[in-house]
Amino acid sequence: MSSSTPPPSGGLFRTKTIEQSIQDTEEPEHALRKSLSAWDLVVFGVGVIIGTGIFVLTGKVAKENAGPATALAFVAAGIVCALAALCYAEFASTVPVAGSAYTFAYASIGELPAWIIGWDLVLEFALGTAVVAVGWSGYVRSLMDNIGWHLPTGLQGPDVPGGTFDILAFILVLVLTVILVLGMKLSARITALVVAIKVTVVMIVIVAGLFFVVGDNYKPFIPDPVTPETGGAWATAPLVQLMFGYEPTNFGVMGIFTAASIVFFAFIGFDVVATAAEETKLPQRDMPRGILGSLLICTVLYVAVALVVTGMQHYTELSVSAPLADAFKSVGHPFYAGVISFGAAVGLTTVCLILLLGQTRVFFAMSRDGLLPRAFAVTHPKFGTPYRPTILLGVVIAVIAGFTSINELATLVNIGTLFAFVVVAAGVLVLRRTRPELPRAFRTPWVPVLPLLSIAASLWLMLNLPGETWVRFGVWMVLGVIVYFLYGRSRSRLGRALSGGEPR
Ligand code: ALA
Repeated sequence: MSSSTPPPSGGLFRTKTIEQSIQDTEEPEHALRKSLSAWDLVVFGVGVIIGTGIFVLTGKVAKENAGPATALAFVAAGIVCALAALCYAEFASTVPVAGSAYTFAYASIGELPAWIIGWDLVLEFALGTAVVAVGWSGYVRSLMDNIGWHLPTGLQGPDVPGGTFDILAFILVLVLTVILVLGMKLSARITALVVAIKVTVVMIVIVAGLFFVVGDNYKPFIPDPVTPETGGAWATAPLVQLMFGYEPTNFGVMGIFTAASIVFFAFIGFDVVATAAEETKLPQRDMPRGILGSLLICTVLYVAVALVVTGMQHYTELSVSAPLADAFKSVGHPFYAGVISFGAAVGLTTVCLILLLGQTRVFFAMSRDGLLPRAFAVTHPKFGTPYRPTILLGVVIAVIAGFTSINELATLVNIGTLFAFVVVAAGVLVLRRTRPELPRAFRTPWVPVLPLLSIAASLWLMLNLPGETWVRFGVWMVLGVIVYFLYGRSRSRLGRALSGGEPR
């Protein structure tokens, strides 16, 4: 530890020093294996970023919120993510330990904010995994239907009329849990193969689809605003519209931002790359490359896909469950539609896998710090993986995926993720002030302007989410604060060390 290291402060805002965080990762029984390169990280990033967002939500928001201007919604959401990514990259290359925004917050702002962000990330990753598992199950059922296999309605999940339990989503999460317990190497290899299939399918959509684009479908590019039939009930209207008391509308310029707050889901995942920092061979150099590289590739692909699909079919005609495949059916090419459905089903598997991975790593880091039971922070003697949280969370998420509807979960995932972005950007500002001397392999440009812009942009998208999403998010966070005061505060490893007790 450097002699200039300031002593950690006490209370709710006690911080772990960066050196302490790195030292913790070197204790053999709590260490994760360092096996990932920059290329692995980009593959990881693309593997988790391209998923339900582009394969499913594109059609829904084009039809309901933004029309052909959905491409602009992807640009807007991409800018918000790029700003956040530049902050994430500085943090991830400075604090290369598992746990993403949670670890960063612990090292910069303090224990309570870190706990809040960790609790928030658990929500993001767990529900995100469930959303994607349910989306995957929809595509697999559609493929099964093509070859004449039909699941009993009851086992098709709550999104289908008459369905109760989504058996396919449930099984998928359990299988992925086993893969994660067996080790990073195995999952990274599977991921690379699946990512290749997924990117190929997206390229097919763009290149083959270009031949079917009709200029008239882009008219009007930004449709005129319309008032939704539900009459703007508080629960479903964007908070920003409720705050300023005007009649909620879809489409128009505001519709682009509503759409952006939803398709934001399509970008979730680049932050997961940061959660693998501790397992990266050269985090100082490879983290920024992995995060920014995967984000850039995905943004370009999304904008291209949105332009092609809304050019192939008028936005009012787009399907909301399988828009990319159905656009090809609409121009008389069912073969392409089948290939796309297959690629989507395969591709969504990796998204699920990596979200689940991110989730277990945050839980692992919080347990290692004593904010959750320390028993979860012991790695497997043979596989070197945090098998206990992986198994526990895998089973819980499998059940959630089996019984829950996809729609309500997605916006909740978005608000949680945007909140994490706000904390990370604030963390960059705080850490520059409190630890200016720390070596930073990647420095966020234009500090403090860029992190402040990142905070404002993330808050803006949050305000475009529905009122009911804010209420659900508030309830989850209040629950988190209660758990902290009843458990983590007294058992925190850092707290015990500061008060002279032995860390457990
Ligand atoms: N970005 C991921 C998706 O679109 C979570 O499914």
